[in-house]
Amino acid sequence: MTRRAPRACVIGWPIAHSRSPLIHGWWLAHYGLPGSYEKAAVPPGEFDAFMAHMAADGFVGGNVTVPHKEAAFRACAARTATAEALGAVNTLWIEAGKLHGDNTDAAGFLGALDADAPEWDARLKTALVLGAGGAARAVLHALRARGAASIRLANRSRDRSEALARQFAGVEPVDWQARDEAAQGVDILVNTTSLGMTGQPPLEIDLSTLPDHAVVDDIVYAPLETPLLRAARERGLRTVGGLGMLLHQAVPGFERWFGRRPAVTAELRSLVEADVQGHRP
Ligand code: ATR
Repeated sequence: MTRRAPRACVIGWPIAHSRSPLIHGWWLAHYGLPGSYEKAAVPPGEFDAFMAHMAADGFVGGNVTVPHKEAAFRACAARTATAEALGAVNTLWIEAGKLHGDNTDAAGFLGALDADAPEWDARLKTALVLGAGGAARAVLHALRARGAASIRLANRSRDRSEALARQFAGVEPVDWQARDEAAQGVDILVNTTSLGMTGQPPLEIDLSTLPDHAVVDDIVYAPLETPLLRAARERGLRTVGGLGMLLHQAVPGFERWFGRRPAVTAELRSLVEADVQGHRP
């Protein structure tokens, strides 16, 4: 029996702008591995049917993005503890004929911090997280896992931050208007809102009261340096941009589908940076 080359995909709607094929395609070529990774444009009404046919279509698994992460969670027969904690799945694989799901957003967030701001958690106690969507949930999970005892959560819509705070110990909702005071003395500040993204207004926040060892992390990656990151850099703080999270969240899936743990190298980062900036080298 001949073994077919593993086939994987990223499932979303819309999917045209996904950078995942660029990342996985580069790793496949770099390691000289057989396999493929493609975009799957799947509208919401067709997601369950796509899942049901995945194995028969020759897929060994794939990534899941907006708006399907919760539907993917429901479709899985087995899930990792992280996926269970987050209620969403972004990485799928078929094992013994069954659909398995993981969520690698929290690991991606931590992988980027560990790589770009070494020792960032050495004296981690307090954090301020801005935003209360799915990305904020992954960030809260990750910060709690690394020992953040007290996390302030500020979101424009207070009901969403309150709902999220009920699900995580040590998380306290604060008013969006009170974010400047909430930033005082925190060891890490994380933006998970869409503010600062290309075409969106910048995130306005006072960074003057952060301690000198604080890290500012913006999970937005377009532009590569948001106004928040620029202000933090000018203030002399360590900064981590969103591109690292995008690259690091891709690692576990590639390893499952193609059998080799890939490295996030400077070369890969430059390739994706050029793509984000609108020019491929
Ligand atoms: P994701 O799941 O990717 O985190 P999301 O659920 O769309 O994305 O959340 C986007 C976040 O950006 C939300 O926290 C949103 O605040 P609301 O919950 O009040 O909608 C936040 N956001 C978007 N535009 C904003 C703005 N102009 N001012 C403040 N917050 C904003």
